[in-house]
Amino acid sequence: MLIIRRMTYDDIDAANALQSRVYLAIPPFGREQFGGLLDRFPDGQIVAEIDGRLVGLALSLVILWDDYSLHHTWDSVTNNAEFDTHDMSGRTLYGVEVCVDPDAQGRGVGHALYEARRTLCRAMNLKRVIAGGRLPGYREHAAHMSPEEYAKRVIWGDFYDPVLRFQLREGFDFCGILHGYLPTDEESIGNASLIVWLNPEYKPELPTRQPPADFFKVFHS
Ligand SMILES: CC(C)(COP(=O)(O)OP(=O)(O)OC[C@H]1O[C@@H](n2cnc3c(N)ncnc32)[C@H](O)[C@@H]1OP(=O)(O)O)[C@@H](O)C(=O)NCCC(=O)NCCS
Repeated sequence: MLIIRRMTYDDIDAANALQSRVYLAIPPFGREQFGGLLDRFPDGQIVAEIDGRLVGLALSLVILWDDYSLHHTWDSVTNNAEFDTHDMSGRTLYGVEVCVDPDAQGRGVGHALYEARRTLCRAMNLKRVIAGGRLPGYREHAAHMSPEEYAKRVIWGDFYDPVLRFQLREGFDFCGILHGYLPTDEESIGNASLIVWLNPEYKPELPTRQPPADFFKVFHS
């Protein structure tokens, strides 16, 4: 059974181990980083569990997008993983990290985590979800083309990129390439795609609000 729920402090070791299995070069978050996210924005930290085993996570902040839109890197938007850029007066849910255990990929866990993020965005009356998406298929083409050309070829169907293709299928728009977004991401050569999902239910006249306490009940299946 797949369960999508809020992350807790008890999940930190399993979440760290999960990231270590998923990423070869990108270092996993430590206790301080996971703890910082949980301290600042507990509603935004979501995990997926199958039969009691943690198999996925989606970590988010609320940010003032205009402060980062021009000079945008993972370090700038997270303040070097301090996550004190979280600001509930913002209107943008920002995806800091999403990953699924290699053993559980391709079974809809990523979709369930993205659906949880979209539902959180709607529940909080946020305008959009924004993220920098990895381009793990780029490295094998990097000698011959720019990341912009690579992304275009993924979008028009010549190449398959497991992350960008997944995000497009999840209804995100591709807004361009972020150079030097995450230098430790060797597969993407540090690049990322800027991706955005607009909340069709957003009401600008109403404030950002806390999601209801039983928010995650709808995701149990
Ligand atoms: C990107 C990522 C989170 C997607 O997670 P996932 O659990 O594999 O996602 P899903 O299973 O929902 O979808 C993946 C594919 O499986 C397919 N799929 C989902 N359920 C399926 C099923 N029951 N049967 C067959 N195919 C299925 C989806 O259609 C999708 O195909 P597509 O990419 O060709 O459109 C995952 O690949 C990952 O963790 N990658 C490494 C970490 C990373 O790079 N994260 C992104 C940071 S920006």
